Amino acid sequence: MTAPVRLAVLGAGGRGADAYGRWVRTHPDRARIVAVADPDAARLEALAGTTAARYADWTGLVAELGRLRPDAVIVALPDALHVAAATAVADAGLPMLLEKPAAPTLAALTDLAGVVRRTGARIAVGHVLRFAPFWRAVRAVVEAGALGDLATIEVRENIGFWHFAHSFVRGNWRNTAESSPMVLAKTCHDLDLIRWLAGSAPRTVASEGSLLHFRPENAPDGAPARCTDGCPAAADCPFYAPRYYLDALRDVTGHPVTMLGGDLSPAGRLAALRRGPYGRCVYHCDNDVADHQQTLLRFPSGLTATLTASAFTAENTRHLAITGTRGQLHGHMESGEIRVDLFSPSGRLPDAVLGSLPGVELVESGTDGPLGHASHTLVAHPAPESGPGSGPSGRGGHAGGDDGLMDAFCRAVVDGTVGSGELSFATALDSHLMAFAAEWSRSGAGVVDFGRWSGATSGSASAGPGQDSTPQDSTVRRAR
Ligand SMILES: NC(=O)c1ccc[n+]([C@@H]2O[C@H](COP(=O)([O-])OP(=O)(O)OC[C@H]3O[C@@H](n4cnc5c(N)ncnc54)[C@H](O)[C@@H]3O)[C@@H](O)[C@H]2O)c1
Repeated sequence: MTAPVRLAVLGAGGRGADAYGRWVRTHPDRARIVAVADPDAARLEALAGTTAARYADWTGLVAELGRLRPDAVIVALPDALHVAAATAVADAGLPMLLEKPAAPTLAALTDLAGVVRRTGARIAVGHVLRFAPFWRAVRAVVEAGALGDLATIEVRENIGFWHFAHSFVRGNWRNTAESSPMVLAKTCHDLDLIRWLAGSAPRTVASEGSLLHFRPENAPDGAPARCTDGCPAAADCPFYAPRYYLDALRDVTGHPVTMLGGDLSPAGRLAALRRGPYGRCVYHCDNDVADHQQTLLRFPSGLTATLTASAFTAENTRHLAITGTRGQLHGHMESGEIRVDLFSPSGRLPDAVLGSLPGVELVESGTDGPLGHASHTLVAHPAPESGPGSGPSGRGGHAGGDDGLMDAFCRAVVDGTVGSGELSFATALDSHLMAFAAEWSRSGAGVVDFGRWSGATSGSASAGPGQDSTPQDSTVRRAR
């Protein structure tokens, strides 16, 4: 039996501790945490336990990598620290799991691409959904050709009104300059999945959207700066903070409530709402990221794909619809249900889906429509021990993707394959470029010629990146 993989973790927050640290705790035969860095003493203690070395800053830990001798590093720091930390880990020659987004700006991404070229850095990016049973089943159906040639892909990212208010109005991802545009922070997963299913980079990217609602002019009359300051709209405002953190989530002590601070008693929560960012009126925050955005992608094969992301949804999950020349697929990530309609009388579900994919089960087969075509329903379940999801309905850490990625990453550390295939920077790069192209399009650039645009972008990496996230005008085709 192989010895457990020795991991150093930079950032002991929601991802470092609750997602990846939890997997390590439940898989002591596969991995062990030997060092942790976090300035938050409580988080540091909680993840380091009694055995791991502790550091108050990631730089202190990285400086001692030679002595600590971990097999790999998990970079689960705030977005703005990713590139500096990943560069330092790459220079130390260690494989890493780098949280998404790999970099929060196009300039930082081109920097990181340069580091990968220079050092051969072995970077797996945290695109956890590729490792969720639901998306593996979808991909197996598509890859086997069961749907024929793909015509359309529609992904709907229902962010959930409460989740959007938490993360993208009051929280860490509210402001583009401080973090990144919503299309990157929230939907680089979706763009990655579209890219993965399409099998190629897009030819064009066009995107529209705006910050429609969470603006001062939409504040109810007399709304104070904080919900706790006697807001007259408390009873009917969907975003009234105490209703979420004190009532709906009163029994939750993990994510997202941990963001309130260390004291999660009712009094501690109330104090956090009175003082901290999560008690702010959603109409009086320093947010600027889009609250709804639709992106249209066209691929060389003729396939077109749309991604709709909206704050204004009841659910906090993804819907998927794929049409192909020989079939159709509908999926709902939260329930795990995937319906596959096969138009040809000889249409079959691929063997790769039936029986060989962990967590995927065929629950119903029948016929439908005027021609009696075959219709199958699959359900993809996260493993029972996978952690809680991010919303109050909380289903298994990214539908089992968090666990799936850790399982694959630790296996790849043992096999020496981090940095190749699905665990590589190269495989994640297009999704990030697609996000920046979409934001560039949304900001008024119209239809972006992705090939020319991304070519110009990688060129700027070798020439030295600029300060902003906008490529040269000459690489962009204006919408007619
Ligand atoms: N893969 C996914 O689906 C997914 C989901 C959510 C977040 N993320 C990404 O994961 C990363 C972490 O997000 P999170 O939700 O865990 O945030 P978090 O705020 O819960 O955790 C970040 C941790 O880093 C610590 N930290 C800050 N500065 C530090 C420093 N100088 N040295 C060491 N530690 C430091 C913070 O104290 C905190 O504990 C972000 O980049 C985020 O965008 C990815």
